[in-house]
Amino acid sequence: MAVAVIVLAAGQGTRMNSDLPKVLHHLGAAPLIAHALAAATAIEPARVVVVAGHEAEEVRQAVALFCPEAEVVIQAEQLGTGHAVATALPRLDGFEGRVLVLYGDTPFIRPETLRDMVAARADVVVLGFEAAGPGRYGRLVTSQAGLERIVEFKDATPEERAITLCNSGVICADAAILARLVAGLTNANAAGEYYLTDIIAAARAEGLSAAVVTCAEAETMGINTRAELARAEALFQARARADALDNGVTLTAPDTVFFALDTWIGRDAVIGPNVVFGPGVTIESGAEVRAFCHLEGCHISRGARVGPFARLRPGAELAEDVHVGNFVEIKNSILDEGVKVGHLTYLGDAHVGERTNIGAGTVTCNYDGVMKQHTEIGADAFIGSDTMLVAPVRVGAGALTGSGSVITVDVPAGAVALGRARQENKPGLAAKLMERLRAEKARRAGGKA
Ligand code: UD1
Ligand code: MG
Repeated sequence: MAVAVIVLAAGQGTRMNSDLPKVLHHLGAAPLIAHALAAATAIEPARVVVVAGHEAEEVRQAVALFCPEAEVVIQAEQLGTGHAVATALPRLDGFEGRVLVLYGDTPFIRPETLRDMVAARADVVVLGFEAAGPGRYGRLVTSQAGLERIVEFKDATPEERAITLCNSGVICADAAILARLVAGLTNANAAGEYYLTDIIAAARAEGLSAAVVTCAEAETMGINTRAELARAEALFQARARADALDNGVTLTAPDTVFFALDTWIGRDAVIGPNVVFGPGVTIESGAEVRAFCHLEGCHISRGARVGPFARLRPGAELAEDVHVGNFVEIKNSILDEGVKVGHLTYLGDAHVGERTNIGAGTVTCNYDGVMKQHTEIGADAFIGSDTMLVAPVRVGAGALTGSGSVITVDVPAGAVALGRARQENKPGLAAKLMERLRAEKARRAGGKA
């Protein structure tokens, strides 16, 4: 059956105490709303509509990045969840099928749960959970016939507040029915808001059926404060670690590895302690990342070995069997098969050909203060330790640069390039020099006394 998803994300999130709208705060190196959108797109919806309000332009940009097919509508004034859905529905005009309403600040909803809701046989389906501490959640009032109504905490009687079956906020209904019910909402309640939750009682009054699908409380966790965001991060990491282990990845010290929402690691890869994944990292089977690496926007191929203490930044592409060692930073560079970069090196905006060895302390001087420039190094080259490659510059295949060279001119294939001052030896000068320096030190000490 065709499904459309509406994601509510207009709220400011006052309790975050932030200039950033709540749904753009990060969890697993991705904005909160990216998590909700990932769950939504996993069920392959025909349409996705995001309701934005506070800092709508920033929200729109994040949505464009993480879910380009989604439409964004603006709810200028936040008059309640029912009003938010009413703002989105015109975009679904003519759509036939089920509509799922999600919250942008609820990142742990599983696609399986959403599928269960779409498959449930009732006119309106609500995702509920048994709350350990029901707090201010809306309460689900049930009968033998199923769900009768949802009562908001503010409007609930003491008896209703004693109910522990709570509303997660996720609702699913047939598009035409939802549109009709939402059009009939009023704001005659304690908050003076248009409650989406009121559509349940309205549906029942029309003789329609309503049902509850339940899930674990952890799945419906919403983020309202920085403390909740920190707890959610811990939960996200715990799940990501467990998933990686299940998928056949070795984590030497799982509790010290931090994943991003989109981290992808193949089977039999080995990840050492204290490795941090930023967004956009893919690691092929059998690759090894040693302790204390920081990786983002990079790809590591089969048989490659990275670290300890390496930093791979966006655009770093390591082909098979590449070795990157300690204190190496790589940005926007392609390293072909078998390249070795062992120690203390910066490669930025470069391409390095197969089997080339980059000596310790090599730096691609890629930035001239205004523009980024490219360095091209051929296959089977040998870059001597402490070579400065002043880009734009090319080093041909099989060429060699002498240690300490500053390479400003292209090096032809097979050539040796020496770009450093010639050494001069002065016989016997060392002792004389020392004597002179000691005398100077004594003179200064005497002057002070
Ligand atoms: C809502 C539910 C409550 C449920 C709880 C679960 C209603 C009336 N109440 O209450 O039953 O237990 O969620 O967390 O639905 N939003 C908009 N525009 C608006 C209002 C809200 O986009 O005009 C968005 C918010 O940004 C948020 C979500 O909708 O992502 C929920 O709104 P919120 O104000 O947090 O609702 P609650 O009072 O928590
Ligand atoms: Mg809320």
